[in-house]
Amino acid sequence: MAKQKTTFFCQQCGAESAKWQGKCPSCNAWNTIVEEVIVKENKKEIWSDTQDKNQSKVKKLTEVTANETQRIITQDAELNRVLGGGIVEGSVILVAGEPGIGKSTLFLQACLQMPDITTLYISGEESMQQIKMRADRINQKNERFFLLTVTDTQTIFNEIKKLKPDVIVIDSIQTLESPFIESAPGSVSQIRECTAEITRFAKASNTPVFIIGHITKDGNIAGPKVLEHMVDTVLQFEGDRHYAYRILRTTKNRFGNASELGIYEMNENGLRQISNPSEILISQKEDSLSGIAIAATLEGARPLLIETQALVTHAVYGTPQRTVSGFDLRRLQLLLAVLEKRGGFQFGVKDVFLNIAGGIKVEDPATDLAVIAALLSSYEDVAIAAKSCFVGEVGLSGEIRAVNRIEQRIAEADKLGFEKIFVSKFNKKNLHSKTNIEIVMLSKIEELYRILF
Ligand code: TYD
Ligand code: MG
Repeated sequence: MAKQKTTFFCQQCGAESAKWQGKCPSCNAWNTIVEEVIVKENKKEIWSDTQDKNQSKVKKLTEVTANETQRIITQDAELNRVLGGGIVEGSVILVAGEPGIGKSTLFLQACLQMPDITTLYISGEESMQQIKMRADRINQKNERFFLLTVTDTQTIFNEIKKLKPDVIVIDSIQTLESPFIESAPGSVSQIRECTAEITRFAKASNTPVFIIGHITKDGNIAGPKVLEHMVDTVLQFEGDRHYAYRILRTTKNRFGNASELGIYEMNENGLRQISNPSEILISQKEDSLSGIAIAATLEGARPLLIETQALVTHAVYGTPQRTVSGFDLRRLQLLLAVLEKRGGFQFGVKDVFLNIAGGIKVEDPATDLAVIAALLSSYEDVAIAAKSCFVGEVGLSGEIRAVNRIEQRIAEADKLGFEKIFVSKFNKKNLHSKTNIEIVMLSKIEELYRILF
């Protein structure tokens, strides 16, 4: 008889405790602690006896050859980019996203597009017929694409041993079930155990595994944050359901840059890669309107020109509103305070709305200058010349600070036909190459105001 052991887990943060509590001591959430039964005995995985013995050998670092970290290059350039240049063999990649955002479609499509790679797609959510219907919809055929619709991890490893696939996709981790744990699929201890088993398998067999996971409304990977540290790479698939654009973002990557970005568009027949996102992110308008400024930002290693839109109106209520979409609210409040204090603008009696076009979220501080320009443009109701763009971080005393990789940003603006770019004076020493675009150097926001209006 297996010895029964129960532990209490917080369903939100994954914290473990010995007894039940009303409030999780780790994340302070109420009523999230649930008792889960764990069976620890007779733990022996099917694949382990065949592969473990010759795998975990001590090796000199100098003897490790580079081809052990070979990458599988997919047909999907955006996916390659966010993974840091292809799928690293033996890596475990967690893909998180809200239900219905297109995670299943993305991986079905990416794997079907690789004719020389054997893929095993394990689905606990959809039947084979449903997946077939989806594959028909994206209109892709592949003789080396295999489906499995079981959820028991040991059966899965058994099948993997027979098939020996090159890539494995698990859709989704919340449906998997390990026989070593008694609690229900989707519970913290199940998710943790299944991920641990998959990770051990991936390392031992050198097979890359994509784990799809649903996230909760507040953006956490359902239940456990614990998953994030167990895997090599974490990708977030996000986007507004009302927009067709979807963004695949790296939040952790052991094998590449951790802030890469891939952009897709959801179409009738699957996801389409968007290789030149700046063109779609800047709304094409005939005449120039006030409150619009273009920012030359950088997402990961990729320059991106995005449109910031501001609307400044008279406050109707006593407390003026500040509403943002795609931008940090606190950052906006800070910039408004700087404008009020250093420029003498009366934003305290105005409602301010700020929007980043295209449903994109920006984190690059170099967007500040464009936000300031858009705010001032709406405040004065004077449009900014259409072919201008902005790049610079704004400090608390209203100074415009230098940003990284300025040449790359300027080159992108130049390529897209911009005529003028406003940058920080302190970036001057980083500018070497010649460009057609006119570069305007600024050191304070007052100078920006004087030049623009
Ligand atoms: P899906 O991949 O099932 O999302 P997830 O796995 O993240 O839950 O995507 C579902 C949505 O995508 C659904 O609302 C329909 C839409 N879709 C298209 O618009 N075009 C397509 O070609 C496909 C396959 C799906
Ligand atoms: Mg799905």
